[in-house]
Amino acid sequence: MTKRWTLRGAQTEYTVAVPAHGRWLELVAWGPHGVSDGPSPVGYDGPVPFLTKGDAAPVEYATETERPFAGADLVVEARSSLRFVSAAAADDRLAVTFADPVNGLRAVLQYRIPAGTDVVERWVELVNEGPDPLRLARAGSAGFCVPTPHGARISYQWGQWAQEFQLAHVDLAHGTFAVGSAQGVPGHLYVPWLAVNDQEDPAGVWGVGLAWTGSWKIQAERDTGGLTRVRVGRGLVDGPIDLAPGERLTLPTAAGAYSADGLGGLARVWHAYQRHLAGERLTPRPVLYNSWEATYFAVDADSQLALARVAAGIGVETFVVDDGWFTGRGDDTGGLGDWTPDPAKFPAGFDAFVADVRALGLRFGLWVEPECVNPRSRLYAEHPDWVYSVDGQPLTQVRNQYLLDLGRPEVAEFVHGTVDGLLRKHAIDYLKWDFNRPRTEPGRPGATGPVDLDGAHVANLWRIYERLRRDHPHVIIEACAGGGARTDLGMAARADVFWPSDNTGPLDRLAIQHGFLHANAPHLLSSWVTDAPGLFDPRPRSLAFRFVLAMAGVLGIGADIRRWSAQERAEAARWIARYKEIREIVMHGTVHLIGGPGQARCAVQYLSPDERTAVVLAWHTGRLDGAGLLPSRPVRLPLRGLRPQARYGTGDQHYSGSHLTTAGLPVQWTAAHDADVIVLHRD
Ligand code: DGJ
Repeated sequence: MTKRWTLRGAQTEYTVAVPAHGRWLELVAWGPHGVSDGPSPVGYDGPVPFLTKGDAAPVEYATETERPFAGADLVVEARSSLRFVSAAAADDRLAVTFADPVNGLRAVLQYRIPAGTDVVERWVELVNEGPDPLRLARAGSAGFCVPTPHGARISYQWGQWAQEFQLAHVDLAHGTFAVGSAQGVPGHLYVPWLAVNDQEDPAGVWGVGLAWTGSWKIQAERDTGGLTRVRVGRGLVDGPIDLAPGERLTLPTAAGAYSADGLGGLARVWHAYQRHLAGERLTPRPVLYNSWEATYFAVDADSQLALARVAAGIGVETFVVDDGWFTGRGDDTGGLGDWTPDPAKFPAGFDAFVADVRALGLRFGLWVEPECVNPRSRLYAEHPDWVYSVDGQPLTQVRNQYLLDLGRPEVAEFVHGTVDGLLRKHAIDYLKWDFNRPRTEPGRPGATGPVDLDGAHVANLWRIYERLRRDHPHVIIEACAGGGARTDLGMAARADVFWPSDNTGPLDRLAIQHGFLHANAPHLLSSWVTDAPGLFDPRPRSLAFRFVLAMAGVLGIGADIRRWSAQERAEAARWIARYKEIREIVMHGTVHLIGGPGQARCAVQYLSPDERTAVVLAWHTGRLDGAGLLPSRPVRLPLRGLRPQARYGTGDQHYSGSHLTTAGLPVQWTAAHDADVIVLHRD
């Protein structure tokens, strides 16, 4: 007899069943409340010529025996075949246990929908209860089944350094679409985020993500029967994983999200989930100043204090000294590993410098990259064996540096001790944790047999973050990897904010943030106002545009504000004050993404939790020359979540909710007015 369970989220439900044969767990339905009440939209019980039943079934988690041709989630060398054993269920969680009676493998499929969210978390616990070691050639976290009877449309995000989070779509009639990273970090190239909808229905969208800060793979395959199955999990870049008798392995959490409101609705589901992950740390992020683009490696007390004085004057709250503050760090060829403030740069002592910054009324932040080491450093001279390397092979340098093997206990202790020591010794409230090279060497000196380096690195990284948070709860941690190469759900649960890209050029940044906000909540979006023209994107935009753009998440300033005129500083002070008025709503509000960087309409609306206030940040995406000279009607921004009969006002202007929703909020762009913040209050 079939056994069946339904997990309920805020708006959605997820129903699974074990068929009478007990060989797998399968999806019955996943969608809005009530969707399971009817014939399964993904089930299939027809003929399967030249295939097996498991290949065509909406299997939740399959070994290669159950799904030999259509892609298995778990591949055990010498094969494995699971049978249902037992289940434990509650409204918001489920654990279904399977076992292989031949080799002793036990697999517990875990499910949980955190309260108030529409995200189903899935993870698998494997235990080797047999007498012999088991070798796992693939160890996926989950298969998510999506009904796409009329063809699948896949949305994904690609990128490269300085061009992260580019939202793109592909129509998939048949076959496989795959993204991933083999770099030991989620990477710049793709984001561990994917969305699928039926080509004839853009409203119902299913999304997947992965909580894994290492190498990963997401693969969507649409079969001839109209089912799209998304496999998500770690990329086993170090080769198979051996599971010794008695050993237990918990695979990373895969997350599935559903929205009946298109990609924008799906973004809101992810935002609510990440706010849940942040928990009590979802407090207003400070307005920060970061010195990187102003001074690069030429950090010293005088230059930083000159910046800090201006920063304090315009309303900045936290002053972050970026790369270049420690010994041997005149440029990127040395210093990493030796985390002592450079006495030549801080002649009166580092603590005196920090005290001077704090005396301006600012909190203090510091940049670190503790997993990396330059060959030109004391650390490398003392511990050359601490870096990843393959015996007898030359080492690869990226940005003139090597990567420490964080999986080794002594290295993890060093990294934790370094950061913890800095936080204990100096009055630090903010940490920017950077990582500027992928892992190239798949080896550990002297290791015999395969070592899961990726798994050990991520496990220790997470442990260190968790320990630092526990011991220094007031310190805000920004996760950065040469821009946005370390953004995944695992980091969203452990870091407070992400640095999404080194590209702060206004129009490039608009596209980066547009993609980022599809996958990540505003409290995770660190953004700086930098000088024009930008490093990468010289297209002119006003200071107002750059401020409004950086206000879409966590506002920061990265310009050389020593050179700003009194007028520019006064304007900056006005924007910062304005941001402080709206940031609670930016942090906690419901986000509606309106249009996008490639469209005339381009805005983000944040609706306050009590739905009384709508904050709209809007940007002019078109040409500036000639704007306002020729006849043109205003851009109209359709707002969401308003009451049609209610009245909403900006102070000078009033509109009905119906007008704002259907006709849209009018904005007239000119060359001198290319961005705006509009706050509407319900009467
Ligand atoms: C890469 C980061 O993304 C930048 O913001 C900056 O911190 C540099 N590293 C410093 O080396």
